[in-house]
Amino acid sequence: MPTKFQNFINGKWVNARSGKTFENRNPANWDEVVGLFPLSDTADVEAAVKAAREAFDSWRLVPAPKRGDILRKVGDLMTERKEELAKLMTREMGKVLLETLGDVQEGIDTAYYAAAEGRRLFGHTVPSELPSKFNMAMRMPIGVAGIITPWNFPMAIPTWKIFPALVCGNTVVFKPASDTPATATKLVEILAEAGVPAGVINIVHGGGGKVGMAIVEHPDVDLVSFTGSSSVGKRISEAAGKTLKRVSLELGGKNAQVVMEDANLELALEGVLWGAFGTTGQRCTATSRLIVHERVYDKFMAIVVEGTKKLRLGDGLKKTSDVGPLVNEAQRETVDSYVKIGLGEGAKLLTGGKAATSGALKKGWFYEPTILADVKPSMRVAREEIFGPVLSVLKVRSITEAIEVSNGTPYGLSSSVYTQNIGYAYQAIRDIRAGITYINSPTIGAEAHMPFGGVKETGNGHREGGWTVYEFFSEWKTVYVDYSGKLQRAQIDTNKA
Ligand code: UN1
Repeated sequence: MPTKFQNFINGKWVNARSGKTFENRNPANWDEVVGLFPLSDTADVEAAVKAAREAFDSWRLVPAPKRGDILRKVGDLMTERKEELAKLMTREMGKVLLETLGDVQEGIDTAYYAAAEGRRLFGHTVPSELPSKFNMAMRMPIGVAGIITPWNFPMAIPTWKIFPALVCGNTVVFKPASDTPATATKLVEILAEAGVPAGVINIVHGGGGKVGMAIVEHPDVDLVSFTGSSSVGKRISEAAGKTLKRVSLELGGKNAQVVMEDANLELALEGVLWGAFGTTGQRCTATSRLIVHERVYDKFMAIVVEGTKKLRLGDGLKKTSDVGPLVNEAQRETVDSYVKIGLGEGAKLLTGGKAATSGALKKGWFYEPTILADVKPSMRVAREEIFGPVLSVLKVRSITEAIEVSNGTPYGLSSSVYTQNIGYAYQAIRDIRAGITYINSPTIGAEAHMPFGGVKETGNGHREGGWTVYEFFSEWKTVYVDYSGKLQRAQIDTNKA
């Protein structure tokens, strides 16, 4: 019998009200059922929001440093269970153990940052324009936060959202991706064990259409933080607009690595292999385009193709695997259809280009790491997010052209430039339209304590990570204390009044 998981509502583990369940299978071996999960609907969301709303009354009054202390304990428990959590994550979404360990570590780092932030949450004191009057602005909790997360970072991304939400004094209704419900449940278990009170953290499993949208549309949910595709992000934004909710959207990317004629090519090679094929290309920060200066193009592409062919596909739990499967069948079909679209548009296949189905791979959603060359900026494979192990290669003649090509998509999350030339580097930093620019390192690998997010269709202007996410999860209250003992009227000229 597969393990049965439950929703967590108001401090209790419960089934979906309907009693329905859904299965979660290992993408490296679809015979293995990781668990059975509640297939929830609006009734379950209703109960979770009610619990969160009620719990907010007391949670908001717990001193922030005390809320932070609980998060420190969460970090300790995650550290103790790091290996166990990572193995479960590999079984449910496929990325290799080295990376799932990194994913849990990102969550641990986020926990300790949040713990310390509980002792900061700085406000401002500002001189008043009037005598004997004190002005300050401070951060207040907002209310119930709806947290909707993807499957590619099943631990890190929920922690990026849930931990700052809690430290700021909000309560949470959490809907994780239905491809990675087990890791999410373990996170909630840890939060409860560490002492987060009943109703403050709730998890409701199920599909985005039903559970996700019920959270977004609920009038008692005050803010929504979502990571996923730009098309779903637009739907969420529209729906949330009806109740004027605050919404943070972390959406797609079409990130490029630029390799200039003076770059250290060995370093650039390591960067592109890690950036393009790490997490099987399923990161919003993945290197999806490689932009190479014509002077080093032939030399560099020869080593990139050679390096790509050496990558070993396999079950992420095996030490010999460099690249795991795609998360599910639909994702593999999308990847394959994009490869066909690229070839139809005139791209040239340098390696890969098909599903990997032989031997030990036959029961998993594996796809060969793929390189498409001769790609032009107008092609769909140069503009649209693929979310898989497919690298589109474009040739350029100058740094200015490289930046222009890098900017030529509807997205703007991450970007990278390999060069030894400080002028090229700073031109790129100034002119690349992206939330993140790396010099001499790949497009992936954002650190938990730095702002994370993008421009254009990658988001709606908010940032996760670091100190910036605390802006999203708190609201400014401006306070004036007049101790003059008389009516003082701001902006009124007392001489003329
Ligand atoms: C994502 O793919 O949504 O920068 C997040 C990185 C990771 C986070 C990726 N730290 O690649």
